[in-house]
Amino acid sequence: MQKYAILVLPAANRVYTANSVQLMRAELAVFGGTVLEGTIENVAEETIGGVDYLTFHTGRLTERDVAYLSNLSSLYALFEVTEDALRPITVRRLDRYDSDLLTIQKYSGKTNELFTKLLFNTTALSTDRPAELLDKPLRVFDPMCGRGTTLNQAIMYGGDASGMDLATKDFEEYERFLRTWLKNKRIKHRATSGQIRRNKVTLGKHLEVEFAADKDAYKAGQTQHLRFVHADTTRCAEHFRPREFDLIVTDAPYGVQHGSRRAAGAAPARRPAELLAEAIPQWAELLRPGGAIGISWNTYVLRTDDLHQLLAAAGFEIRHAELDFAHRVDQAITRNLVLAHKPAS
Ligand SMILES: C[S@@+](CC[C@H](N)C(=O)[O-])C[C@H]1O[C@@H](n2cnc3c(N)ncnc32)[C@H](O)[C@@H]1O
Repeated sequence: MQKYAILVLPAANRVYTANSVQLMRAELAVFGGTVLEGTIENVAEETIGGVDYLTFHTGRLTERDVAYLSNLSSLYALFEVTEDALRPITVRRLDRYDSDLLTIQKYSGKTNELFTKLLFNTTALSTDRPAELLDKPLRVFDPMCGRGTTLNQAIMYGGDASGMDLATKDFEEYERFLRTWLKNKRIKHRATSGQIRRNKVTLGKHLEVEFAADKDAYKAGQTQHLRFVHADTTRCAEHFRPREFDLIVTDAPYGVQHGSRRAAGAAPARRPAELLAEAIPQWAELLRPGGAIGISWNTYVLRTDDLHQLLAAAGFEIRHAELDFAHRVDQAITRNLVLAHKPAS
Protein backbone atom coordinates (compact mmCIF):
# COMPACT_ATOMS: atom_id res chain seq x y z
CA MET A 1 0.00 0.00 0.00
CA GLN A 2 1.21 3.48 -0.87
CA LYS A 3 0.25 6.60 1.06
CA TYR A 4 -0.96 9.77 -0.69
CA ALA A 5 -1.88 13.24 0.52
CA ILE A 6 -4.33 15.72 -0.95
CA LEU A 7 -3.92 19.41 -0.29
CA VAL A 8 -7.46 20.81 -0.24
CA LEU A 9 -8.22 24.04 -2.12
CA PRO A 10 -8.35 26.89 0.42
CA ALA A 11 -11.62 28.04 -1.17
CA ALA A 12 -13.27 24.73 -0.19
CA ASN A 13 -12.90 25.59 3.48
CA ARG A 14 -14.71 28.86 2.90
CA VAL A 15 -17.54 27.18 0.98
CA TYR A 16 -18.19 24.26 3.27
CA THR A 17 -16.63 25.57 6.50
CA ALA A 18 -16.69 22.66 8.96
CA ASN A 19 -17.77 20.14 6.30
CA SER A 20 -15.04 20.51 3.65
CA VAL A 21 -13.13 17.36 4.59
CA GLN A 22 -16.35 15.34 4.96
CA LEU A 23 -17.39 16.33 1.40
CA MET A 24 -13.95 15.61 0.00
CA ARG A 25 -14.00 12.18 1.66
CA ALA A 26 -17.42 11.40 0.21
CA GLU A 27 -16.38 12.52 -3.29
CA LEU A 28 -13.16 10.50 -3.03
CA ALA A 29 -15.22 7.46 -2.00
CA VAL A 30 -17.30 7.77 -5.19
CA PHE A 31 -14.12 7.86 -7.31
CA GLY A 32 -12.75 4.90 -5.33
CA GLY A 33 -15.94 2.89 -5.68
CA THR A 34 -16.29 3.40 -9.43
CA VAL A 35 -13.18 4.15 -11.49
CA LEU A 36 -9.97 3.83 -9.46
CA GLU A 37 -7.91 0.64 -9.81
CA GLY A 38 -7.39 -0.01 -6.12
CA THR A 39 -9.51 0.48 -3.02
CA ILE A 40 -9.07 3.66 -1.00
CA GLU A 41 -8.29 2.97 2.63
CA ASN A 42 -7.44 4.75 5.89
CA VAL A 43 -8.72 8.14 4.76
CA ALA A 44 -7.62 10.61 7.44
CA GLU A 45 -7.08 14.28 8.15
CA GLU A 46 -3.43 14.91 8.94
CA THR A 47 -1.29 17.93 9.63
CA ILE A 48 2.08 17.73 7.89
CA GLY A 49 4.52 20.61 8.36
CA GLY A 50 1.77 22.68 9.90
CA VAL A 51 -0.57 22.29 6.90
CA ASP A 52 -3.74 20.16 6.80
CA TYR A 53 -4.01 17.33 4.28
CA LEU A 54 -6.42 14.52 3.52
CA THR A 55 -4.36 11.35 3.39
CA PHE A 56 -5.25 7.89 2.15
CA HIS A 57 -3.70 4.53 1.30
CA THR A 58 -4.15 2.59 -1.92
CA GLY A 59 -2.12 0.55 -4.40
CA ARG A 60 0.30 2.62 -6.50
CA LEU A 61 -1.85 5.09 -8.48
CA THR A 62 -1.84 4.41 -12.22
CA GLU A 63 -1.66 7.25 -14.76
CA ARG A 64 -5.35 6.85 -15.31
CA ASP A 65 -6.08 7.00 -11.57
CA VAL A 66 -4.19 10.29 -11.43
CA ALA A 67 -6.16 11.56 -14.44
CA TYR A 68 -9.38 10.87 -12.53
CA LEU A 69 -8.22 12.27 -9.19
CA SER A 70 -6.91 15.43 -10.86
CA ASN A 71 -10.56 16.43 -11.27
CA LEU A 72 -11.62 16.09 -7.63
CA SER A 73 -13.56 19.29 -6.99
CA SER A 74 -11.54 20.47 -3.97
CA LEU A 75 -8.10 19.16 -4.95
CA TYR A 76 -5.36 21.75 -4.96
CA ALA A 77 -2.34 19.42 -5.13
CA LEU A 78 -1.62 15.71 -4.87
CA PHE A 79 1.44 14.16 -3.22
CA GLU A 80 2.93 10.75 -2.72
CA VAL A 81 3.99 10.46 0.91
CA THR A 82 7.39 8.86 1.43
CA GLU A 83 9.25 8.40 4.70
CA ASP A 84 10.77 11.85 4.71
CA ALA A 85 9.11 13.82 1.91
CA LEU A 86 6.00 14.74 -0.02
CA ARG A 87 6.62 14.04 -3.70
CA PRO A 88 4.34 16.13 -5.95
CA ILE A 89 2.33 14.23 -8.52
CA THR A 90 1.62 16.15 -11.72
CA VAL A 91 -2.13 16.58 -12.05
CA ARG A 92 -3.82 16.69 -15.45
CA ARG A 93 -7.22 18.29 -15.22
CA LEU A 94 -9.87 17.91 -17.90
CA ASP A 95 -10.35 21.69 -17.93
CA ARG A 96 -10.34 23.04 -21.48
CA TYR A 97 -10.85 26.72 -20.74
CA ASP A 98 -9.70 29.40 -18.29
CA SER A 99 -11.13 29.00 -14.80
CA ASP A 100 -12.90 32.38 -15.02
CA LEU A 101 -15.59 30.63 -17.11
CA LEU A 102 -16.88 29.44 -13.76
CA THR A 103 -15.84 32.24 -11.46
CA ILE A 104 -16.55 35.56 -13.24
CA GLN A 105 -20.30 35.50 -12.70
CA LYS A 106 -21.26 36.51 -9.19
CA TYR A 107 -24.90 36.84 -8.21
CA SER A 108 -27.24 36.07 -5.40
CA GLY A 109 -28.55 32.52 -5.81
CA LYS A 110 -25.49 31.19 -7.66
CA THR A 111 -24.64 27.59 -6.85
CA ASN A 112 -21.05 27.61 -5.72
CA GLU A 113 -18.81 26.37 -8.55
CA LEU A 114 -16.84 23.93 -6.38
CA PHE A 115 -20.03 22.34 -5.17
CA THR A 116 -21.37 22.24 -8.75
CA LYS A 117 -18.20 20.43 -9.81
CA LEU A 118 -18.62 17.90 -6.99
CA LEU A 119 -22.25 17.27 -7.99
CA PHE A 120 -21.21 16.99 -11.64
CA ASN A 121 -18.35 14.55 -10.95
CA THR A 122 -20.34 12.29 -8.68
CA THR A 123 -23.26 12.19 -11.15
CA ALA A 124 -20.94 11.35 -14.05
CA LEU A 125 -19.49 8.51 -11.96
CA SER A 126 -22.99 7.17 -11.24
CA THR A 127 -23.77 6.19 -14.86
CA ASP A 128 -23.25 2.66 -16.18
CA ARG A 129 -20.13 3.97 -18.00
CA PRO A 130 -18.26 6.07 -15.40
CA ALA A 131 -15.06 5.98 -17.49
CA GLU A 132 -16.78 8.38 -19.88
CA LEU A 133 -15.85 11.17 -17.48
CA LEU A 134 -12.40 10.99 -19.09
CA ASP A 135 -13.17 9.35 -22.41
CA LYS A 136 -16.19 11.02 -23.94
CA PRO A 137 -17.68 14.51 -24.22
CA LEU A 138 -20.78 14.14 -22.05
CA ARG A 139 -24.21 15.49 -23.00
CA VAL A 140 -25.45 17.25 -19.91
CA PHE A 141 -28.82 18.78 -19.02
CA ASP A 142 -29.50 21.15 -16.14
CA PRO A 143 -33.29 21.54 -16.12
CA MET A 144 -33.19 24.50 -13.67
CA CYS A 145 -29.89 26.01 -14.68
CA GLY A 146 -30.09 29.59 -13.36
CA ARG A 147 -27.17 31.50 -14.86
CA GLY A 148 -25.46 28.34 -15.98
CA THR A 149 -22.93 27.14 -13.39
CA THR A 150 -23.60 23.50 -14.38
CA LEU A 151 -23.60 24.40 -18.08
CA ASN A 152 -20.22 26.05 -17.68
CA GLN A 153 -18.83 23.00 -15.86
CA ALA A 154 -20.03 20.76 -18.71
CA ILE A 155 -18.35 23.08 -21.24
CA MET A 156 -15.18 23.19 -19.14
CA TYR A 157 -14.89 19.40 -19.38
CA GLY A 158 -15.42 19.49 -23.14
CA GLY A 159 -19.05 18.34 -23.21
CA ASP A 160 -22.31 19.63 -24.62
CA ALA A 161 -24.53 21.62 -22.27
CA SER A 162 -28.29 22.13 -22.30
CA GLY A 163 -30.32 24.03 -19.77
CA MET A 164 -33.75 25.40 -18.94
CA ASP A 165 -34.81 28.14 -16.58
CA LEU A 166 -37.99 30.07 -16.09
CA ALA A 167 -36.37 33.25 -14.82
CA THR A 168 -36.09 35.90 -17.55
CA LYS A 169 -33.23 37.63 -15.81
CA ASP A 170 -31.19 34.42 -15.56
CA PHE A 171 -31.65 33.69 -19.25
CA GLU A 172 -30.72 37.23 -20.30
CA GLU A 173 -27.75 37.53 -17.96
CA TYR A 174 -26.37 34.16 -19.02
CA GLU A 175 -26.65 35.03 -22.68
CA ARG A 176 -24.89 38.33 -22.06
CA PHE A 177 -22.15 36.64 -20.04
CA LEU A 178 -21.46 33.82 -22.47
CA ARG A 179 -21.38 35.98 -25.60
CA THR A 180 -19.00 38.43 -23.91
CA TRP A 181 -16.78 35.70 -22.49
CA LEU A 182 -16.44 33.89 -25.85
CA LYS A 183 -15.63 37.18 -27.56
CA ASN A 184 -13.10 38.31 -24.96
CA LYS A 185 -11.34 34.94 -25.05
CA ARG A 186 -11.36 34.97 -28.88
CA ILE A 187 -13.03 31.58 -28.94
CA LYS A 188 -14.36 30.78 -32.39
CA HIS A 189 -18.15 30.42 -32.12
CA ARG A 190 -21.53 30.96 -33.67
CA ALA A 191 -24.41 32.11 -31.47
CA THR A 192 -28.10 32.59 -32.20
CA SER A 193 -31.04 33.42 -29.97
CA GLY A 194 -34.70 34.32 -30.27
CA GLN A 195 -38.27 33.16 -29.77
CA ILE A 196 -39.24 29.51 -30.06
CA ARG A 197 -42.49 29.39 -32.03
CA ARG A 198 -44.48 26.36 -33.12
CA ASN A 199 -47.87 26.50 -34.85
CA LYS A 200 -47.93 30.27 -34.26
CA VAL A 201 -47.58 29.76 -30.49
CA THR A 202 -44.57 31.12 -28.59
CA LEU A 203 -43.09 28.39 -26.40
CA GLY A 204 -40.23 30.40 -24.93
CA LYS A 205 -36.85 31.79 -25.91
CA HIS A 206 -33.68 29.99 -26.72
CA LEU A 207 -29.95 30.51 -27.03
CA GLU A 208 -27.84 28.17 -29.18
CA VAL A 209 -24.06 28.36 -29.33
CA GLU A 210 -21.57 26.25 -31.25
CA PHE A 211 -17.89 26.68 -30.38
CA ALA A 212 -14.54 24.94 -30.08
CA ALA A 213 -11.46 25.46 -27.93
CA ASP A 214 -9.27 26.06 -30.98
CA LYS A 215 -9.80 27.20 -34.56
CA ASP A 216 -8.67 23.93 -36.18
CA ALA A 217 -11.16 21.93 -34.15
CA TYR A 218 -13.89 24.41 -35.13
CA LYS A 219 -13.01 24.10 -38.82
CA ALA A 220 -12.97 20.31 -38.56
CA GLY A 221 -16.47 20.39 -37.04
CA GLN A 222 -15.24 19.12 -33.67
CA THR A 223 -17.42 21.56 -31.83
CA GLN A 224 -19.22 21.81 -28.51
CA HIS A 225 -22.85 22.87 -28.26
CA LEU A 226 -24.78 24.89 -25.76
CA ARG A 227 -28.54 25.23 -25.67
CA PHE A 228 -30.47 27.26 -23.09
CA VAL A 229 -34.27 27.30 -23.24
CA HIS A 230 -36.13 29.95 -21.31
CA ALA A 231 -39.28 28.08 -20.30
CA ASP A 232 -40.81 26.06 -17.47
CA THR A 233 -38.88 22.86 -16.80
CA THR A 234 -42.14 20.89 -16.70
CA ARG A 235 -42.36 21.59 -20.45
CA CYS A 236 -38.96 20.04 -21.13
CA ALA A 237 -40.42 17.38 -23.46
CA GLU A 238 -41.40 20.15 -25.89
CA HIS A 239 -37.80 21.25 -26.25
CA PHE A 240 -35.57 18.20 -25.92
CA ARG A 241 -35.60 14.68 -27.37
CA PRO A 242 -36.12 11.46 -25.40
CA ARG A 243 -32.82 9.84 -24.30
CA GLU A 244 -30.85 12.87 -25.44
CA PHE A 245 -28.64 13.21 -22.35
CA ASP A 246 -26.00 11.21 -20.48
CA LEU A 247 -26.40 13.25 -17.31
CA ILE A 248 -28.94 15.46 -15.60
CA VAL A 249 -27.34 17.68 -12.97
CA THR A 250 -29.30 20.30 -11.10
CA ASP A 251 -29.43 22.38 -7.94
CA ALA A 252 -33.13 22.61 -7.10
CA PRO A 253 -34.77 25.79 -5.78
CA TYR A 254 -34.20 26.09 -2.04
CA GLY A 255 -37.68 27.40 -1.22
CA VAL A 256 -36.15 30.58 0.23
CA GLN A 257 -35.70 33.94 -1.43
CA HIS A 258 -32.23 35.13 -2.38
CA GLY A 259 -32.11 38.84 -1.69
CA SER A 260 -34.22 40.75 -4.23
CA ARG A 261 -34.11 38.12 -6.97
CA ARG A 262 -37.86 37.53 -7.08
CA ALA A 263 -38.55 41.16 -7.77
CA ALA A 264 -36.01 41.11 -10.61
CA GLY A 265 -37.89 38.77 -12.94
CA ALA A 266 -37.06 35.51 -11.23
CA ALA A 267 -39.30 32.44 -11.43
CA PRO A 268 -42.52 32.60 -9.44
CA ALA A 269 -42.22 30.79 -6.13
CA ARG A 270 -43.50 27.23 -6.23
CA ARG A 271 -42.97 24.58 -3.58
CA PRO A 272 -39.79 22.71 -4.55
CA ALA A 273 -41.29 19.36 -3.50
CA GLU A 274 -44.28 19.78 -5.84
CA LEU A 275 -42.09 21.00 -8.67
CA LEU A 276 -39.73 18.01 -8.35
CA ALA A 277 -42.66 15.58 -8.14
CA GLU A 278 -43.99 16.89 -11.44
CA ALA A 279 -40.65 17.34 -13.21
CA ILE A 280 -38.63 14.21 -12.29
CA PRO A 281 -40.69 11.74 -14.41
CA GLN A 282 -40.31 14.06 -17.41
CA TRP A 283 -36.58 14.55 -16.92
CA ALA A 284 -36.26 10.75 -16.73
CA GLU A 285 -37.54 10.49 -20.32
CA LEU A 286 -34.73 12.74 -21.57
CA LEU A 287 -31.98 10.61 -20.03
CA ARG A 288 -30.40 7.76 -21.96
CA PRO A 289 -30.79 4.31 -20.38
CA GLY A 290 -27.75 3.83 -18.15
CA GLY A 291 -27.47 7.59 -17.60
CA ALA A 292 -27.52 9.28 -14.19
CA ILE A 293 -29.18 12.15 -12.39
CA GLY A 294 -27.71 14.23 -9.55
CA ILE A 295 -29.89 16.66 -7.64
CA SER A 296 -28.88 18.90 -4.78
CA TRP A 297 -31.61 20.36 -2.62
CA ASN A 298 -32.48 22.00 0.67
CA THR A 299 -33.34 19.28 3.17
CA TYR A 300 -35.53 21.73 5.14
CA VAL A 301 -38.11 21.76 2.31
CA LEU A 302 -38.02 18.09 1.29
CA ARG A 303 -37.09 14.97 3.27
CA THR A 304 -34.39 12.72 1.83
CA ASP A 305 -36.69 9.67 1.91
CA ASP A 306 -39.38 11.55 0.01
CA LEU A 307 -36.95 12.61 -2.73
CA HIS A 308 -35.64 9.04 -2.97
CA GLN A 309 -39.23 7.86 -3.38
CA LEU A 310 -39.93 10.36 -6.15
CA LEU A 311 -36.86 9.11 -8.00
CA ALA A 312 -37.70 5.44 -7.44
CA ALA A 313 -41.26 6.04 -8.72
CA ALA A 314 -39.74 7.46 -11.92
CA GLY A 315 -37.68 4.27 -12.38
CA PHE A 316 -34.35 5.45 -10.92
CA GLU A 317 -32.04 3.44 -8.66
CA ILE A 318 -30.37 5.42 -5.90
CA ARG A 319 -26.56 5.29 -5.84
CA HIS A 320 -24.09 5.94 -3.01
CA ALA A 321 -26.83 6.55 -0.45
CA GLU A 322 -24.39 5.50 2.29
CA LEU A 323 -22.21 8.58 1.76
CA ASP A 324 -22.78 11.80 3.68
CA PHE A 325 -22.83 14.92 1.49
CA ALA A 326 -25.12 16.99 3.74
CA HIS A 327 -23.73 20.39 4.71
CA ARG A 328 -24.97 23.66 6.11
CA VAL A 329 -25.19 26.57 3.67
CA ASP A 330 -26.88 29.08 5.99
CA GLN A 331 -29.49 29.06 8.73
CA ALA A 332 -32.33 28.41 6.27
CA ILE A 333 -30.52 25.86 4.09
CA THR A 334 -28.91 22.52 4.80
CA ARG A 335 -28.01 21.11 1.41
CA ASN A 336 -27.67 17.49 0.45
CA LEU A 337 -27.37 15.68 -2.83
CA VAL A 338 -28.85 12.54 -4.28
CA LEU A 339 -27.35 10.43 -7.07
CA ALA A 340 -29.45 8.01 -9.08
CA HIS A 341 -29.10 5.84 -12.12
CA LYS A 342 -31.59 5.00 -14.88
CA PRO A 343 -31.36 1.26 -15.47
CA ALA A 344 -30.43 0.25 -19.00
CA SER A 345 -33.39 -2.10 -19.40
C1 LIG B 1 -30.87 26.97 -6.88
S1 LIG B 1 -31.24 27.81 -8.35
C2 LIG B 1 -30.07 27.18 -9.51
C3 LIG B 1 -28.90 28.08 -9.63
C4 LIG B 1 -27.92 27.66 -10.70
N1 LIG B 1 -27.33 26.36 -10.42
C5 LIG B 1 -26.85 28.72 -10.82
O1 LIG B 1 -25.72 28.51 -10.33
O2 LIG B 1 -27.14 29.79 -11.37
C6 LIG B 1 -32.76 27.10 -8.88
C7 LIG B 1 -33.28 27.63 -10.20
O3 LIG B 1 -34.52 27.00 -10.51
C8 LIG B 1 -35.24 27.88 -11.33
N2 LIG B 1 -36.64 27.43 -11.40
C9 LIG B 1 -37.56 27.41 -10.40
N3 LIG B 1 -38.71 26.92 -10.87
C10 LIG B 1 -38.52 26.60 -12.17
C11 LIG B 1 -39.33 26.03 -13.18
N4 LIG B 1 -40.60 25.69 -12.94
N5 LIG B 1 -38.81 25.84 -14.42
C12 LIG B 1 -37.52 26.19 -14.68
N6 LIG B 1 -36.69 26.73 -13.76
C13 LIG B 1 -37.19 26.93 -12.52
C14 LIG B 1 -35.05 29.22 -10.66
O4 LIG B 1 -35.30 30.29 -11.55
C15 LIG B 1 -33.57 29.12 -10.24
O5 LIG B 1 -32.73 29.72 -11.22
